[in-house]
Amino acid sequence: MKDIQSIISQMTLEEKAALCTGASSWTTTPIERLGVPEFVMSDGPHGVRRVPDVHAVAMESLPATCFPTASCLASTWDVDLIHKMGQALAEECTALNVDILLGPGANMKRSPLGGRNFEYFSEDPFLAGELAANFINGVQSKGVGTSLKHFAANNQEFQRFSISAEIDERTLREIYLTAFEKAVKQAQPWTVMCSYNKVNGTFASEHHYLLTEILKEEWGFEGLVVSDWGAVRNRVAALKGGLDFEMPGPQARRVQEVVDAVRSGELDEAILNESVRRILRIVFKAQETPQTEKFDVDAHHELAGKIASEGMVLLKNNGILPLKGQQHIAVIGRSAENAHFQGGGSSHINPTKVAMPYKELQARAENAELTYAEGYPKDNSFNQGMIDQAVNLAQSADVAILYIALPTFKESEGYDRTDLDLTDQQVALIKAVAKVQKHTVVVLNNGAPVAMSAWIDDVDAVLESWMMGQAGGSAVADVLFGRVNPSGKLAETFPFKLSDTPSHLNWPG
Ligand code: BGC
Repeated sequence: MKDIQSIISQMTLEEKAALCTGASSWTTTPIERLGVPEFVMSDGPHGVRRVPDVHAVAMESLPATCFPTASCLASTWDVDLIHKMGQALAEECTALNVDILLGPGANMKRSPLGGRNFEYFSEDPFLAGELAANFINGVQSKGVGTSLKHFAANNQEFQRFSISAEIDERTLREIYLTAFEKAVKQAQPWTVMCSYNKVNGTFASEHHYLLTEILKEEWGFEGLVVSDWGAVRNRVAALKGGLDFEMPGPQARRVQEVVDAVRSGELDEAILNESVRRILRIVFKAQETPQTEKFDVDAHHELAGKIASEGMVLLKNNGILPLKGQQHIAVIGRSAENAHFQGGGSSHINPTKVAMPYKELQARAENAELTYAEGYPKDNSFNQGMIDQAVNLAQSADVAILYIALPTFKESEGYDRTDLDLTDQQVALIKAVAKVQKHTVVVLNNGAPVAMSAWIDDVDAVLESWMMGQAGGSAVADVLFGRVNPSGKLAETFPFKLSDTPSHLNWPG
């Protein structure tokens, strides 16, 4: 183990300030003369989004396994499986030269409308905390770090860079901090990422009460606090609050501000030294893990499929499932041919391969005839012709399987949803097909609850298959044909209507 105190005593003020800010979008600042290397971070949480050149600005990431997103993971209620997924993620990190994976997210689903709910586990603090802890322990058991995010009270996308979450102490402790507390105490993530928003009027990136008093002092967090990308407003105030490491970099002006603040006496150098110590500890910890050459693409694809099948929830079944002996299966919905398996934003993974739902169904359908209609367009337009075509196929079939994916323009990082509904076309399609085909099965792909009252009574079965990851297409087929018994259970409420949700009257606030 390196003598960190001795290194700190040899560092210049400029070197210390520089270490506390990234050198690029994904790396820390190395100090060659003292033998301090960089570490590399990459986005997660449900895959490794490693760009080919970590020192350059955004690029398409390298292929990695896209596992199911957190709402699917949570519905497995299976901590061992999530631990295994963590280990697989770590194996991909070591093969792709990544030291720290930016995840998991442990924010509460305050409303089903939260744009990033697909990246979060649950509305339940206990469950989210348990799952996050097991995810972290899985990754870190292989010598790769994690970043528990977004600390704290980042429960919506609306004005996420500026909004102040107003929360009284009891609510904060019992709902919004609990999952973080459990994860920190049970798993000691190498890093915790602060959120963009303010909490009770103070930016999370400067929040002494949250970052220093609660996270570090009360919960005993030993790692470093990293900012969400661009979350720091005032670098000196952030250091004083307990934010050790600012991302992304480089930011020469910020470094100079810290140097000036120490020189003028505005910032106590002991505070800077403490952040430097925490960062160096992780830099050297990362060095202990050897990089590997490659990961097992097929085994990880299979694991992603296993998790997907365990997380799928059979919301309704009048007995049509599992499918058996149907001669003519009408497959309807563009997500049967264009698998919808992850969400938009920073978690977007470039998959190693993708199991296409239609093909997977075909492979298991033995002697049945499969026909296909797209059913709904990519955008939000209404196309009666597509509905008519689907109805034509459905009425002559023995069963209709509708693959309905909530489109990215309705659900993504960066914006909240405005309603719980599928698109008008999707609702009209389901109703029209169900009118002519009494055996209609709806397979949903979405990261958060959708309203079903308008059509659920018309159909025979509904399978919630979430943002199911790259192997989800085969998992759906396995469930439909009874090769896997769907045993997932919802880890969040599916409200009948928006006005039934507790935050309805003050959302987004
Ligand atoms: C997101 C984080 C992500 C970071 C780096 C931010 O905009 O909120 O979750 O890890 O970008 O891509």
